[in-house]
Amino acid sequence: MAKPALLLTRKFPEAVEARATRDYAARLNADDALWAGDGAELVRRADGAAGILCAAGDRLDAATIAALPDSVKIIATFSVGTDHIDLKAAAARGILVANTPDVLSVATAEIAMLLILMAARRAGEAERMVRAKAWEGWAPTQLIGVTLEKKRLGILGMGRIGRALAEMARGFGMEIHYRNRSRLEPALEQGAAFHEDDDSFLAASDFLSMHIPGGEATRRWLNAARIALLPKGAIVVNTGRGTTVDDDALIAALKSGHLRAAGLDVYDGEPRVHEGYFGLENVALLPHLGSATVETRDAMGFRALDNLDAVLRRGEAPPHRVS
Ligand code: DGY
Repeated sequence: MAKPALLLTRKFPEAVEARATRDYAARLNADDALWAGDGAELVRRADGAAGILCAAGDRLDAATIAALPDSVKIIATFSVGTDHIDLKAAAARGILVANTPDVLSVATAEIAMLLILMAARRAGEAERMVRAKAWEGWAPTQLIGVTLEKKRLGILGMGRIGRALAEMARGFGMEIHYRNRSRLEPALEQGAAFHEDDDSFLAASDFLSMHIPGGEATRRWLNAARIALLPKGAIVVNTGRGTTVDDDALIAALKSGHLRAAGLDVYDGEPRVHEGYFGLENVALLPHLGSATVETRDAMGFRALDNLDAVLRRGEAPPHRVS
């Protein structure tokens, strides 16, 4: 039987490309060109392909999906987030969509923890000072941050990533609060305080870590009104999706001192970053590193290939079907 044709929109880890090449007539993106941001180009390259292995940031909007060739049976995204794919349009075309949950939870929680530490301990600012050769020696009042112990960490979205972060933060002596669609079972909650409304949740968050999906329903969830409900001197961290934060409101609160600091790994319209952040010392900025470990990226690729294999090689439902 001929191998099904598979379009890979990006350069993926070596082991993932090796397996894709073994099992599919794989069209690799060997030079890592960013043509998948251009819907028309993606459609052109998908001609005759049975599957598409794509990544967060690729453009699979309604118009692109409507124009995909009939040969395409499944879009397997190398991400847990699916806000770059118009799921309704895919369903209307009968194209399956599958993602890669679970395998990136710990890596992403690590980046949230890193940002919490960077923001609390002013690590970015300090590193810039050393690199600029501006450090004049230890001083009792230099670059004073805040300690994590006994602080309240508010986790918005207590899914797998939120729970992995809670486990790490407990090790730093933080008290965990959370807001979620529904309350977790005690075994998953592990003593964390559930909040039924935004107001009490935000008021209880010395640190706020955001783990909600992107999309219209969560657009600019963290706006000026909600920021005002955070305690003065709170720290905000976002490793979910940049669209969930109102950048102007966050920048204003970082400037006014209502917020002590922030740490961001994701941006609205990335790779564009709101210019307002660049002039601020009290914000740590990372380039969407959440899942960027060797172990995690391989596991994401294998999970995406498991989804493709189920549909294209065995005629079954993908194990991680989204729609
Ligand atoms: C995801 O999986 O959604 C991440 O944001 C991409 O690493």
